[in-house]
Amino acid sequence: MVKVLFVCLGNICRSPTAHGVFQTLVDHAKLGEFISVESAGTGAYHVGEPPDSRSVQEALKRGYDLSAIRAQQVNVSDFECFDYILAMDHSNLAVLKHQCPEQYQHKVNLFLHYGTQYAEEEVPDPYYGGGKGFLKVLDLVEDAAQGLLKELQGLEGIPNRH
Ligand code: 4NP
Repeated sequence: MVKVLFVCLGNICRSPTAHGVFQTLVDHAKLGEFISVESAGTGAYHVGEPPDSRSVQEALKRGYDLSAIRAQQVNVSDFECFDYILAMDHSNLAVLKHQCPEQYQHKVNLFLHYGTQYAEEEVPDPYYGGGKGFLKVLDLVEDAAQGLLKELQGLEGIPNRH
């Protein structure tokens, strides 16, 4: 089982979107028994809460159901447990790199490293902005999620089903 953890600040906007989008890709590719998906925040502000209603609504319009996700905070045991720990922006990447034990540093990366269609390196925080920010999050996340799935399908032991 390859285990993927998406990380943003609050775990109510960007990383739950990545979580729901990537889980849907995994499900459609019938790879659920090979790839597990989770999300968390570096901050604890929203622990236990469902995703922001704007994220839930915009995701649903594109066929992704985020409603069952509940915010949790990154735990130090996550660095051992997960194989891919993917940050939405440089600021959260820096926090993760700081918290992560030396032997697991290679697991921590920027999520948009896997994107192919956009120049952005970060998924911008949509929390304090308008509705357009949530659409931008979805555009960037959908692109990088496809790239990530391709990467995982290149790993030994994971079927390459299209
Ligand atoms: P997220 O967005 O990191 O994409 O979940 C945020 C949500 C809440 C806060 C910051 C960012 N906040 O400060 O409460």
